[in-house]
Formats: sequence, C-alpha cells, structure tokens
Amino acid sequence: MFNKSHLMEMLDEGKQSTPLYYYDMELLRSTLNAVKQEIAGEPFVVHYAVKANGNPVILKEIQRSGLGADLVSGNEIVAAAEAGFAPSMMAYAGVGKTDREIEIGVDKGIYCFNVESEPEMEVINEIATRMGKTAGIAIRVNPDIDAHTHRYITTGTVANKFGIDLPRLDDAVDLALSLPHLHLRGLHFHIGSQVTTMQPYALLCDRINHLLDHYEQRGVNFEMIDAGGGLGIDYGNPDDNPIAAFHDFFQVFKRGLNLRPGQKVHFELGRSIVAQCGSLISKVVFVKENSAKRFVILDAGMTDLIRPALYTSHHKIENLTSQEQESVAYDVVGPICESSDVFAHDELLPVTRRGDVVAIRSAGAYGESMASRYNMRSLPSSVFSH
Ligand code: LLP
Repeated sequence: MFNKSHLMEMLDEGKQSTPLYYYDMELLRSTLNAVKQEIAGEPFVVHYAVKANGNPVILKEIQRSGLGADLVSGNEIVAAAEAGFAPSMMAYAGVGKTDREIEIGVDKGIYCFNVESEPEMEVINEIATRMGKTAGIAIRVNPDIDAHTHRYITTGTVANKFGIDLPRLDDAVDLALSLPHLHLRGLHFHIGSQVTTMQPYALLCDRINHLLDHYEQRGVNFEMIDAGGGLGIDYGNPDDNPIAAFHDFFQVFKRGLNLRPGQKVHFELGRSIVAQCGSLISKVVFVKENSAKRFVILDAGMTDLIRPALYTSHHKIENLTSQEQESVAYDVVGPICESSDVFAHDELLPVTRRGDVVAIRSAGAYGESMASRYNMRSLPSSVFSH
C-alpha cells in the first residue's frame, strides 16, 4: 500500500528533502471507510484523537469523513475548528486544563469536557457561569483495568493520574448534578494505548454495565458513554495488516454493552486511524563500524520520531534504494547527542550505503505530533500521496 515510486520521484527531482513524513492518503481513506462500515447502524460515534497527528491535511481528511475530534489542549480545539470540525463533535480531555483552555472550550460550545477531578468541575462551572453558558461534561472514570501495554501508556489503573476512581465516583456525580452551569452527559473511560487484545475492553464493558445499573437505580441516566480509544496496530507487519482490527474492537462493545434506549457510545481512536498511513523517510548520512557493531546513521533522529527512544518501541525499517541481495545486521541510529537515539538494534537490512533512502514504517501516529526541536533541529516536513 505504501507508494514508493511517488515518494522516490519527489526525492529524485529534489522537490523534497529528508527527513520527512510521507502520508499515504489512500490508506487513510480506506482506514476511515473501514471504521465507518463497522459503526454503520450502531449508536456509535467516533472521535479522532488529534494528539496522534494534528497535521492540518490529515485533520481535514478525517473531518471530511464525518468523524468527531477528541482534544487535549486549547490549541488542539482551535486546530480542530480550523479544520472544520463542528463544536458539537468535539470532546476535550486532560488532567490539567488551564482557565484559558476551558474558556476556549466554553466559548466554542464544545459537546463535552471530559473532567478528571472535582476541582476541575468547580472551575468549569465557575467559568461557564461567568460566560453565561452551560458546559457539557462527562466524568472520566478510572476503572482500574490493566490494559497490558507499556507502562507509560497505561492510563486506567489507580496508580495513574487519570480520572476519578470508583470509590469517589458517587460523590463526583452528585457534585456534577448540583452545579447549575454543568450538564452531565455521561461517563468517560480510557484504559490505555496500543492495546492488542480485546480482553481489557470486554472487562471495560462489564464495568460500564455495572455503573449503568448502579446509576439507573439512583435515578441518573446518561446520554452517552465514552469508551475511549487505544486500539493497537501491527508494527511488525504493516503491509500484511495495514488496517487495524476495527471489526473485533467494535464487536466487543456491540456484544458487551447493555445500553439504555437512546444512549450513544463514543470512541476516541487515534493510533489505529493514522499510524499505518505514515512513514518517516530519511537518508543514510554515514555507515560506520566499530569493533562490535555496524551503524547506519540517518538524518532522522529521536527529534523526528521519539517512540523508539521513549518506549523502546520497534518500527519496521526498509531500505528503499539498496539493490543488494545480501543482508547485514545494523544498529540504525539518528544524529542526536543521546545514546537513546536509536531506531533499532541489530536490524537486518540489505547492505546499506551513504545516500540510501530508508522508510521507518507505521509512524503516522505519535510521530510528527511528538517531534521536537532539540539540538535546534528543524521540524520534519510532510508530503502526501494524492
Ligand atoms: N483518549 C484519551 C483520553 C487518551 O489519553 C488517548 C491517548 C486516546 C484517546 C487515543 O489513544 P489511541 O487510540 O491513539 O491509542 N505517545 C504514545 C501514545 C500516548 C497515548 C496517549 N493517550 C505512543 O506513541 O505510543
């Protein structure tokens, strides 16, 4: 699915220079269609988690497909609005929303703030009162479910800073109902990211069902439940599995949730929508050897794609230009002055030379959006297939 010839043409003609992000827009569109097919006819609404990739071209494409936006900062709210997302399709989460960010959300009239604490509820109520508006909210619940993923991206256990835990939830719901400028729309959950088995989601459905019964008995009905995101992708085999397991994912919720009449389920998918359509394209600056290792040194580094350095995650690496038959194990590294600036250890690549072009695959999510200017480097550019 990855369109090598289009990319190589642009590099050969000198229209683009590396490092750059190359996005296969056709794959993005097929991914969005796959999502839409799975939710058709169901009371399901999918919000795209903009944090995964906020590139305006990507945002526009996703907005056109009819998805909503899941946001985590005032700037993301503004970017989503610029891309054309309607405020009624925006949800805003985060443990540390500032007053200014809350004002932006209240002013735009976003569908819902996913609130993470009682003090936050009080501040949103205060700001909405001052602005003469009512703010829609959902309470983010910490359901204490282990998502079995990297500890940095597990979010739904009591060891994490997110949400309100189950013993305090009744008080939080009562507080939300008592604050006059808040409109409690539902409960929000997000258990973690790069979740590759469905069992944690099945457990989440059980927790949600239990809470729906509990609050029904207390006379509280929710218009929606937000089940969060987190569906993982296949980093090892992007060509065999370019589209995430959306069927299995939505099936768990179709089967597992006992929804009340009229109730909707919202999802916040980031990685599974954009990861596979993006590759980080880089040129080999040098190949060097020491007594223990062979290194391929790229012009891309951890500033362009931090995932391997931060989570020791592995992205498939391809040499797009080498014609060699023989393969050699290389440590593929970047130019940054940190020993964590390594894309892969002992990666088998065809014999690689200075000037070769490599693709680091499955980099469309949390790649460009996490890029930094450390070492005063320029931010990577982006190029799109048609
Ligand atoms: N909703 C909430 C409340 C979240 O915190 C996240 C991700 C999502 C939705 C979207 O999750 P997704 O569907 O993309 O898994 N930088 C890390 C991932 C951090 C995820 C943070 N929260 C990485 O590169 O793996």
